[in-house]
Formats: sequence, C-alpha cells, structure tokens
Amino acid sequence: MAAGRWLLHHRVARRLGSTALGTRVPARTAASTSDERGAGGSKGPGGFFITTPIFYVNDRPHIGHLYSALLADAACRFQQLQGVVREHTLFCTGTDEHGLKIQRSAEAGGCEVQAFCDAVSHDFRSLFVSADVSFTDFVRTSEQRHCATVHRVFQALADGGHLYQGRYEGWYCLADEAFLGEGQVREEQLPSGQTATVSAESGRLVEWHSEDNYMFRMSAFRDELLCWLRAEGRVRPRHFQHQLEQWVSEELPDLSVSRPRERVPWGVPVPGDEGHTIYVWVDALANYLTAAGGFPTPKPWPPDVHVLGKDILRFHGLCWPALLLALGLELPRALLCHGHWTIGGQKMSKSLGNVVDPRQAAAQYTMGGLRYLLLRGGAPHADSPWGGAVAGHLLNAELADTLGNLLNRCTAPALNPKGCVPPLDVGLLESSPCGLQLAKHLATLPDTIAHHYADFNFHHGIEATMGAVRQANAFVQEEQPWVLAKDPASTPRLELVLRLSFEVLRVAGVALLPVVPELSTRLLDCLGVPPALRTWSSLSLGFTKPDQEYLSTSFTLGLRHKLFPKLKLQ
Ligand code: MSP
Repeated sequence: MAAGRWLLHHRVARRLGSTALGTRVPARTAASTSDERGAGGSKGPGGFFITTPIFYVNDRPHIGHLYSALLADAACRFQQLQGVVREHTLFCTGTDEHGLKIQRSAEAGGCEVQAFCDAVSHDFRSLFVSADVSFTDFVRTSEQRHCATVHRVFQALADGGHLYQGRYEGWYCLADEAFLGEGQVREEQLPSGQTATVSAESGRLVEWHSEDNYMFRMSAFRDELLCWLRAEGRVRPRHFQHQLEQWVSEELPDLSVSRPRERVPWGVPVPGDEGHTIYVWVDALANYLTAAGGFPTPKPWPPDVHVLGKDILRFHGLCWPALLLALGLELPRALLCHGHWTIGGQKMSKSLGNVVDPRQAAAQYTMGGLRYLLLRGGAPHADSPWGGAVAGHLLNAELADTLGNLLNRCTAPALNPKGCVPPLDVGLLESSPCGLQLAKHLATLPDTIAHHYADFNFHHGIEATMGAVRQANAFVQEEQPWVLAKDPASTPRLELVLRLSFEVLRVAGVALLPVVPELSTRLLDCLGVPPALRTWSSLSLGFTKPDQEYLSTSFTLGLRHKLFPKLKLQ
C-alpha cells in the first residue's frame, strides 16, 4: 500500500469499550454548524471569548509568539472599548507542554520534564504580563484541570463511536507534531550532500512512522465542515478560508489521536488503555474547553475568535471543528489567521535559530515600542519582515515626532498659557479651510478605525490614526500658533488650533489604547480625559455638542515625562 496513507488494519473498528470509559457524549445539536450570531469576532450575549494558541515550551518565546498574543490582546481591548465588560471577557492563552518534542528538549537540556515545562511556561507568562497582554486565564496542558478535560473529551469521542483502532504508516514531522500525506512532503538535498524528506510546507525534517493508534473518523465530517467553512467571514483574512475549503475538498483523512506510550510517555494516557497517550494536538486544542470550565458543559461557548498563525491553520480550521462536531459542541464563530514574521525572507523560528528575543527587543525599543512595531508592521494577510534598522526610525518618527510633538505643542506653556482646552468656536472653524478639513476627517475617523480593528487589521487602523495626527501637525505648522500667541487679537484663532489638536489627540489616545495601552493611558491622563470618556462611543461625540466638555479644563500642563522619549539610533 502507498506510503503516507492510513493503513487500516481494522476497517470495521474495534471500538473502545464504553464501559471502560465512563462519560457520555451529549447529542449533537442542530445548531452545531449554524452561525446565527454572525462571524468575524461577533460577541456572544454580553461577553467576548477570544483565544491565542498555546505555546510550545520546547524553547523560549520569540516575537512571533508575542505577535499572536498581541493580536488577541488588541482585539480584546477593542471589544472592551466598545462596551464589553472585562468581567464578561474570557481571553485565554497558555502553554502546550506534552508530546515528544517537549520530552526530547527536556532530555537534551538534562532536565526533568515537568521542571523544564514549569520554567519555560513561566517565561511565557511573565513575558505576556510585562507586555500588557490582558489574558484572563493561562492554561497549562500539564495542569490537572486540563488533563481531566482531555480525558473526558477522548472518552466522549470513544463513546460516540468516533474512534477506531488502526495502523498508521507514514510521515511524521516532529517539529510540527503533525502527520503528513504523500503530497505534503518533498525530497531535499542537505548541506552534507545527503537527501532527506522534509515537510513541503515548513521545510522541517519528517520521520517514517509505522504504529498502531486510535484513529478519529474525521472524514465523516467533511460535508459539515464545508458548510461551516462557507459562512462569510468565518476565517479572516479571506484567502485562509479558501485554503481550508480547498484542503477539505482535496482530502480529509482520518486523524491518528494516540501514540504508543513507550515512545511518547509524556502525555495524557488514553482512558482505559495505559499503552497509549493522547496525541498532543487533541490535548492542545482541548485547552479552549479547559479555559471555558471543561467538558462536557463549557461556558461560555463557543469562542468568538481563535487567533492563530498560518502554520497551524489546518489544525484549527479542520481538526478542531471536526472534533467539536463529534463532541456535539458549537463550532467557533471565527478564526483569525496571521502570517509569519520573517528574517532574511525566512520564517522566524526556534528550529532555524533566527529568532528575535522580545525582551531584548523591548530593551531596545521599550515594550510599548515593541507592541507598536508588531501591530503596526505585522499584517495578518501576509508575512512581515522584521524591521531591523528602520524600526527605531519608525518609532521616533511616529510616536515621538508625530504624536509626542502634537502633545507638546498643545501643552507647551508658551502656546497654551491658560493651560486649558478651549471651547470650539464653530464660526471661526467655518472660516478656516484647513481646520474644517481636519474636523471633517475627525468626524469619519472613528468609524474608519473601527472598521479596520473589527477586521483585525490593526496596522490599517494605526495608519489611519497616525494620518490624522500628521494632518493636525500640518495644520498647526500652517497656523503657526507661536506667532498667534504673540498677538492678543489672535487668541480666538490660537484657541481654535489648540482645540482641534486636542480633539485629534483625544481620538488618537483612545484609538491607540488597544495597541499601546500604557502609552495611550499616559496620553489621555495628560489630556485629562475622564475614564468614562475613554470609550469608542465617546469618539463619535466629536464636536456635535460643542458646549460639552470632553476634556478636563483643569489639566496640569507640561509633561514631566516625554510621551515617547526618542531612541538613540546609530
Ligand atoms: N502548540 C501549538 C499550538 C497549539 S494551539 C491549540 C504551536 N505552538 S508554537 O509555539 O509553535 O506557536 C504558537 C503561535 O506562535 C502560533 O500561532 C504560531 O503561528 C506563532 N508563531 C510561531 N512563529 C511565528 C513567526 N515567526 N511569526 C508569527 N507567528 C509565529 O503551534
């Protein structure tokens, strides 16, 4: 039989005995594949449930990992600005700690496996805390609560008749912890001159495996998967959705969901069969259930958005929904898939050894600066080259020279001697073509940014925000408030310049909260924007009620600390 194919010795399955296993699978609901509440990050009733992938602990975090977490964080913060209360938010992240890859890394480091996992998991967690990733739960797959979930999930699959025992013969990519079909591998010449078989997608080495496993009848869910995948906005950006549809239509083989324990002891044992451990991807995907309180009654459910990199699209877009269908649970409302950070055109990855350490990058650019660089420079639809020398220039130009400069101009005692936010003189505004243009731009800006953020295109939202700040600086430059300040007769015009600039800063401060929360909070504090007005709906108030004060008139002028101190660049 052809290599790389599932060889099913027991086509009519020798089902796992349900007596050995316990829990019953809930009946599949008619709503399983429907999408009544829309897609693309729509909220469940009153809440928001978003996830990051859980990170392998075989090595330390790099900026690609942080990017996955920041996309989820920015999306979550945006939802909260739109009114979702933090108490009704479930934002989970965590670490993926089982499997052969981790086992071998611990052995190579001469470490006991659990101690090795503890150390690296702590590293991820503390990085996310220091980067202001506002997760509400951190799931570790070695935790007892998670192992219990995985156990129940496997049991329910068995009870539902979704598993059988079979023999797998084919390629396995250890670095990706993935089985590959014949069409997914290629021959490659190694520097030594020898040829090796590698994964066509990731370029990583594959090994030939032949072993008896428990198999999941994934192929049975093909039609339902296609139906789920055809909903508008199910997977963002759109081309990833097309990719998934293509994969399903090409081939949907059954999935091996266990490993012989003698080869992979570091995993959750198969219920009732101590000779096998559960496949690390079934284990890992179940973390989303653990975060929601466990199986069989997760709450909230389903997730609004799973954030993931394109290397793990197949697992989230095919295997996970198929498993959920088998478990009788609703499928996720949306997936946000993103491209990779690259260096010299190659994916940044631990195995290639070309990774950028986020802590070193934060020491160079500040943590706020790093967040900005990742969300400004990374685009979900494509791979993004890591900035190198231009990164520091970008931060200086945008955060110091554009945003910081406008704030300095508004608050400088020489230009704003009263230290206040003047009211808007509508009559005067109408006589200023540049001012009017800026005010008109401001009227549509919140919707423009919201549109980009809702689509997870934070880079476009940031560009739109900075575009308005640049426009405001140009307006200030043209009006020359330093000249106006010298002539008392020009005070109304000076105040118009200040008022418009403050409004731009207020909008930019709120709009950048999902991107650089600490820096934006300092900006809004400095402007005296009350916390109740740090919401998306407050942005559309704009100048429609000119008599209403959105900004405290008693703010203390003069920033003691710069908003973004300029980086010293070589
Ligand atoms: N453990 C699995 C995920 C299980 S989720 C149920 C895994 N872990 S990982 O540590 O390898 O990757 C975690 C995330 O980091 C993925 O979204 C992956 O795409 C992302 N990145 C890893 N390298 C990356 C880049 N170079 N650039 C951007 N993101 C990258 O896969």
